[in-house]
Amino acid sequence: DEMTREEALQYLNETMKPEEGVIPAYILTDPTIYKLEHEKIFMKTWVLLGHESEIPNKNDYMLRDLAGYSVIISRGQDEEIRAFYNMCTHRGMKLCRADHGNKANFTCPYHGFNFKNTGELIGVPLQNDIYGGKLDTSSMGLNKVTIGTYRGLIFGTWNDNPQPLDDFLSDFKWYLDIGLGRTEMEVVGPPQKFIVHSNWKIGSDNFVSDSYHTMVTHGSIAQLGMVPSATYSKKGYQVHTDNGHGCLIGMPNPDFPFPEELKDEFKSHLTTEQFDLISNMKNLIGTLFPNLSILVSHTKVKGQLISNTTMRLWKPIGPDKMEVMTWFLVEKNASEDWKYRSRESYILTFSPSGIFEQDDTEVFTDITAAASGVMPFAKKLTYNYTMGMHREPVTDFPGPGVAYGDKFSEANSRNYYRYWLNLMNS
Ligand code: FES
Ligand code: FE
Repeated sequence: DEMTREEALQYLNETMKPEEGVIPAYILTDPTIYKLEHEKIFMKTWVLLGHESEIPNKNDYMLRDLAGYSVIISRGQDEEIRAFYNMCTHRGMKLCRADHGNKANFTCPYHGFNFKNTGELIGVPLQNDIYGGKLDTSSMGLNKVTIGTYRGLIFGTWNDNPQPLDDFLSDFKWYLDIGLGRTEMEVVGPPQKFIVHSNWKIGSDNFVSDSYHTMVTHGSIAQLGMVPSATYSKKGYQVHTDNGHGCLIGMPNPDFPFPEELKDEFKSHLTTEQFDLISNMKNLIGTLFPNLSILVSHTKVKGQLISNTTMRLWKPIGPDKMEVMTWFLVEKNASEDWKYRSRESYILTFSPSGIFEQDDTEVFTDITAAASGVMPFAKKLTYNYTMGMHREPVTDFPGPGVAYGDKFSEANSRNYYRYWLNLMNS
């Protein structure tokens, strides 16, 4: 039987001990937990909607969903980006039904009300005749959705009194700068979307702290010689910040897998510490709470190491199902040839058909299936997240947050789930 919200919260607080590395399995599949997450996390916090470069021109727009509700994100004639709830204010029809396009105004498919991309209602068919000049169009503009941007990322929130985006991103901005702000980045093509029969948190958790799986799950890739060795992912740092965010930084790397010609540009966008880090960095993998993961990695393309940058959103569409949206980003000012090879590097590794992606989603699916049981002990199953508890943070790491001098740890997951539990209790 389904637990009530109160029962679920009480049981959660009895069984979940992030500090001790105890995470119960049922939080991945329980329907009441899923409803609580929607209410207390996805309706309250900032969630990624997309990237500014997806709508580069005046009047470009795209449709996204924010916690399951359709939102139009549009760049106005004045270059400003705005977001609206995708619902006509006359009788509630979904105003826009195309994924993306270019329009200065939107006409409702039901009765033809016409809205400017600033939200105003500017046209009503036969208005004077049928309303006798009495329709107050000024109060019938589209409902605005609160958005905020950082380094090209567009976030939205349903919270009418949200924590400022800057505070929410907190120290994780330092890592977002390296990952997505080292130079002007642009998204290539529309995002790819695919369904995985997995709880969304497994993706976030995997990217926030799990380097340990790489030598086994992705072992075959090392055997093929596409990456150096089976323990290639241990060296480096694991770092987490406030609000559940965290990342893994693979070090060292003798080669600079970024466009050489952009070195000066990187320097001007980053601090000296950030530039030194990226110059030595093998990869950067992280999760911004709740469900945005970013990844800068590289692979050999025709004998040369080429980096690729991607971000992905683990969008819940049920307790045991998610839609993954992935974006490929590239350095806007790199040569066309470099951009092409970077895309190849992405397609080979973390695109929906990439070798890493295939390995990972198979694991996510099986974990979710095993967590879904109704056998008597199902609610007592727990996971072990104690790895690295014996370690102390290092003090010589240049970035903010709590840093450990080894990537094989579950400290970031404990931090992620601690924040998750805080919000669930809020
Ligand atoms: Fe949109 Fe009537 S519902 S015009
Ligand atoms: Fe993986």
